[in-house]
Amino acid sequence: RTVENVRNICIIAHIDHGKTTLTDRILEMTNAVEKRKMREQYLDSMDIERERGITIKSHPLRVFYKADDGNEYEINIVDTPGHVDFSYEVDRSMAAVEGAILLVDATQGVQAQTVANTYKALEHNLEIIPAVNKIDMPNANIEETVAEIEDLIGIPGEDVFRISAKEGIGVKELLEAVIKLVPAPKTADDGHLRALIFDAKYDKYRGAIAYVRVFDGEIKAGDKIMMMSSGEVYEVGEVGTFTPEMVPVDILKAGDIGYVIAGLKDVSKARIGDTITKPDNPAPEPLPGYKEVKPMVYAGMYPGLPEYYEELRKALEKYKLNDAALVFKPDHSPALGFGFRCGFLGLLHMDVVRERLEREFDMAVILTAPNVEYKVVTHSGEEIFINDPAKFPEEGEVREIYEPYVKLSIITPPEYIGKLMNLVQNEKRGTLVSTENAGHERVVMHFEVPLAEIIFDFFDKMKAVSRGYASMDYEFLEYRKSDLVKITIYVNKEPVDALSFIAHREKAYTIARKLVDKLAELIPQHQFEIPIQAKAGGRFIARSTVKALRKDVLAKCYGGDVTRKMKLLEKQKEGKKRLREIGNVTIPQEAFLAMLRIG
Ligand code: GTP
Repeated sequence: RTVENVRNICIIAHIDHGKTTLTDRILEMTNAVEKRKMREQYLDSMDIERERGITIKSHPLRVFYKADDGNEYEINIVDTPGHVDFSYEVDRSMAAVEGAILLVDATQGVQAQTVANTYKALEHNLEIIPAVNKIDMPNANIEETVAEIEDLIGIPGEDVFRISAKEGIGVKELLEAVIKLVPAPKTADDGHLRALIFDAKYDKYRGAIAYVRVFDGEIKAGDKIMMMSSGEVYEVGEVGTFTPEMVPVDILKAGDIGYVIAGLKDVSKARIGDTITKPDNPAPEPLPGYKEVKPMVYAGMYPGLPEYYEELRKALEKYKLNDAALVFKPDHSPALGFGFRCGFLGLLHMDVVRERLEREFDMAVILTAPNVEYKVVTHSGEEIFINDPAKFPEEGEVREIYEPYVKLSIITPPEYIGKLMNLVQNEKRGTLVSTENAGHERVVMHFEVPLAEIIFDFFDKMKAVSRGYASMDYEFLEYRKSDLVKITIYVNKEPVDALSFIAHREKAYTIARKLVDKLAELIPQHQFEIPIQAKAGGRFIARSTVKALRKDVLAKCYGGDVTRKMKLLEKQKEGKKRLREIGNVTIPQEAFLAMLRIG
């Protein structure tokens, strides 16, 4: 096998347009997975992914394909996620490949992530092979979708493939096109090793596993390698490829995608975006990495029980290896004790982190309501970034406050324009900048909106007003001056820092009102009455009350059998993992996220 017979591709698409199904079909056609092992969505190997039906992590895969020209080709496929929160994963997959299959669902047409990912593929200079998927569906609008793709990338409609990933229709033709159109990997052939770490994973037994694309040179077990960012040297224990299971091979050559295990016990050493080279003959310069991802939202994370702080820290460090987008630093909250301030890409990301910590590391955590990062200019002119509402200055303490704005684009059928304008402009403090047509029956609306307005419930609201037809994408625009106030919540007369939040002055009262009501619903009744108050600008602006409980919880068990009582106590202990005593009030996890549920 020579590098001429290698093709490296990724599959890009809007969420649910069929990437995983297509990859499954290719696996089946190339017999990479034995039939008995084949199951739906082979690649969505993470439990959460299978349950939610979305791809979160990119899984590389190598198959061998016997093409019509009689030659056997090695095709490396990097699967990519479609959700807006995970678009940075798409970027790094693209850095590792030469071509992209662009998949568009014939029943939905071009959507926001189709457009966003196509632009990314163009930036990475990838050969794009477009395909309309799900042509087997009775409601498929094949020709309309083809026309939209023509508009998007300006290639003639006859060059757009029409496939059904589910039924396997047109998949062979698509693979033939990959062989013909996607260029074989180019190598510098200058005697240096250059391998890009495009992902990494922590394994309990083997330490850090770096997923690499070898651009130049080769790596094998026993080689000494050097990380270009740190200059640290390691010995390679094993190299291999993904079938999709990890299978050791003798050597990874230029053009290959595979993994490297080099006894990196310290998980932070396998930095995604780093270049691996050889210490005795180092490459003069690293490969262009890709841009660091910047978190969009921040929240406090605390161990279920305070004594698990150290364990949580270790879990986060290991977790981060597989998810470079998570950032965290130690923090302390008067109410919740020692924990971390974490940065996430969005709410789905936050949710996934929480769930993976629970499933993969047995760590139950308490998360506080997420918020964006504000910029504050002090009276002396100093600029400070604040992502913790508890640390937000009180009225008059600073000169100016700025909040992040994003460019938001929404693609929608024209009939929902009015409702979407109303949502963004009247409810979410946004402004419409322009609109343009995108193919038939579809309009792109460009807005400028405070990020804080779209991180909570915006996605669901947009889907609701457009009956599921609109899709969105956004990117950071700039910081703009804003009239924001800090609202502090008092539970039983005690301020609870972990419940405080920042709101625009015009909305402060309404949000405070809804929040105290919601909290009163979520905080369980105690033996005494609990006032819940919101304070802003030095005065209380809303109040609600949790009425006192009349009976003892255990009262109903008195006189009953002992085991029942024991069981109840046991259960309460379990539940406590996620409850916190503040003052003498027990606050459940849901209460800390009440902000997300007040609409
Ligand atoms: P994310 O990873 O979440 O972005 O989704 P995806 O793009 O991987 O989509 P996935 O392969 O999970 O497909 C989404 C749904 O569409 C699944 O229910 C598939 O069974 C279905 N689907 C995919 N391709 C076809 C097709 O060609 N025909 C039909 N009828 N259904 C399909």
